[in-house]
Amino acid sequence: MQQPDLRAIIAVLETIAKPTVAAIYGTALGGGLELALGCHFRVADAGARLGLPEVKLGLLPGGGGTVRLPRLIGPLKALRMIVSGTPIDAAEALAAALVDAVFDGDLAARAVRFASGQDGPLAPVRDRNSRLDPADLPDFDRQAAELAKKARGLEAPIACAQSVRNAVTLPFEAALAAERELFVKLVAGDQSRAQRHLFFAEREAAKVGAKDIVRRKIARVGVIGAGTMGGGIAMAFANSGFPVTLLETSREALQRGLAMIDKNYAVSVSRGSLSEAAKQQRLGLFKGSTDYGDLADCDLIVEAVFEEMAVKKEVFGRLDAVARPGAILATNTSYLDVNEIAASTSRPQDVVGMHFFSPANVMKLLEIVRAEKTVPDALATIAELARRIGKVPVVVGVCHGFVGNRMLSARGAESEALLLEGATPQQIDRVFTDFGWPMGPFQMSDLAGLDIGWRNRKARGQTAVIADTLCEQGHFGQKTGRGFYLYENGSRTPAADPEVEALIRDKAADRGIAPRAIGAEEIIERTLYPMINEGAKILEEGIAARASDIDVVWVNGYGFPVGKGGPMFWAGLEGVDKIIGRLGHWHERTGKDIFRVAPLLRQAAETGSWEGKSMA
Ligand code: NAI
Repeated sequence: MQQPDLRAIIAVLETIAKPTVAAIYGTALGGGLELALGCHFRVADAGARLGLPEVKLGLLPGGGGTVRLPRLIGPLKALRMIVSGTPIDAAEALAAALVDAVFDGDLAARAVRFASGQDGPLAPVRDRNSRLDPADLPDFDRQAAELAKKARGLEAPIACAQSVRNAVTLPFEAALAAERELFVKLVAGDQSRAQRHLFFAEREAAKVGAKDIVRRKIARVGVIGAGTMGGGIAMAFANSGFPVTLLETSREALQRGLAMIDKNYAVSVSRGSLSEAAKQQRLGLFKGSTDYGDLADCDLIVEAVFEEMAVKKEVFGRLDAVARPGAILATNTSYLDVNEIAASTSRPQDVVGMHFFSPANVMKLLEIVRAEKTVPDALATIAELARRIGKVPVVVGVCHGFVGNRMLSARGAESEALLLEGATPQQIDRVFTDFGWPMGPFQMSDLAGLDIGWRNRKARGQTAVIADTLCEQGHFGQKTGRGFYLYENGSRTPAADPEVEALIRDKAADRGIAPRAIGAEEIIERTLYPMINEGAKILEEGIAARASDIDVVWVNGYGFPVGKGGPMFWAGLEGVDKIIGRLGHWHERTGKDIFRVAPLLRQAAETGSWEGKSMA
């Protein structure tokens, strides 16, 4: 590396005889804050934000941040800031003694005044060789252990905690050297490579349309349907300050939807994450209606009504009659053909899919579905808008389930077979959580409601013997207290259900299947490998533009572990040759299409890349 590097500069700043003052304006993140930490004093503009976000890239602050920050604000606060990677604002920084003064305006002049001692004598500079008080250590270790549990297999948060601990237990120079050692190890590891891959993948995915495309102005948003998704979508917009017109079929349905929104905000207030005033301000942005005419002044209208083509077509026909020319008409459909929906209007060029994920006010992913006739400026407008409401946009093409749900179907295609052959729901889910997923497929089905899949299967003439039987018995998952698991007394913690296990054994016996022990390897081969294979097919068909887009979808919409970089990146780590070999094996044994190796997968094995770019 070219010298002097950041660490050398910071060392000079810190040991220089004259007092140095960092004047912080805007954001001081990562290396920027580490530079400021090397100064003897820090002052900040009132709008400044300060943070060490390296953990989000699978790293630790390697420029002395983990050693200097605890000396300023104490090890416990430093631990929280460094392990979360979340920046704090100037007021918090002042309260924590991370900065010595905050100025509202005129920063440079005020900083000079501060440095000259005119605001009052400068406090003595902390001796960097003074040792931190080890009395905090038991508390520190308790908190670090809790954070480690939440890290779900990620190495960086644990290394961050270790490095802050070193700042307490080791002399200054030794702690810096230890920080360096941990940093070098993280940089070279697969997890950090995966997380850096995702960072750039998200940026790439968000670049939609040429720079000179004129984006449409979106001031007011309409949402049709105030159910689970419509309510969440409306909140996502209101949370970013957009006025929203929410349309329902009846006054009762509208009241129900608005009451749910009110309740969701009330929960945030009771948790302390939202002020009562902010709640009122957001509620003030909603206008409820049962009259399509009220959508005439909306620049974007998002439909979130029942998942039935006939209903969608009727809604879009009515929208076509009232929406102003140039308004963008979007559908939140999960599976339906957006081309067909667009064709029910006289302006298919203005129709797109906006596929939000549940809960829509929380989940970051937005699949933007490009239909055949969607014009580029409509797509570019929605992608830009997505960023404004804090979403991560990915453009996808039209097919059944788009990118995410289509691959989810491939992931779950062998679920029932695995059960019948001898695996239990908890065993399969355990393999997923060990892999780093927040939950396994059966826990997820129970959470989402088994009735959704049941309805879908019936509509498509498909069956799933275990899940169908559970539904026929009225067991829809968490909401009924029973599904693949038992949830007693309103508990959300899944407990093994002996009746489900008996049901599985009975159904297997009916089919003459003798149960056998099924290992973790096999579970991965029959769930995750078909998912990669489907991803390759999606790329071949141009449904996704880049393999990295697929990774962004899976990490942000379905909880694929960030430390593995998304399914397509992980395929590189796992070895595409190995995946092809095992898919072939399972194809031979089962004849199932999900195991038929996609030509692009073979090509990737030969070239070591998905599309000219090298894989993991
Ligand atoms: P829901 O049943 O909770 O809500 C649908 C709402 O639409 C109901 O309140 C209903 O009264 C209203 N509605 C029906 N017809 C209407 C019409 N003609 N005009 C105005 N309002 C009408 O359903 P949910 O779960 O919110 O799903 C809505 C859409 O979102 C579906 O297309 C679904 O596939 C999609 N989706 C659902 C996800 C989920 O996790 N629930 C995730 C992503 C998409």
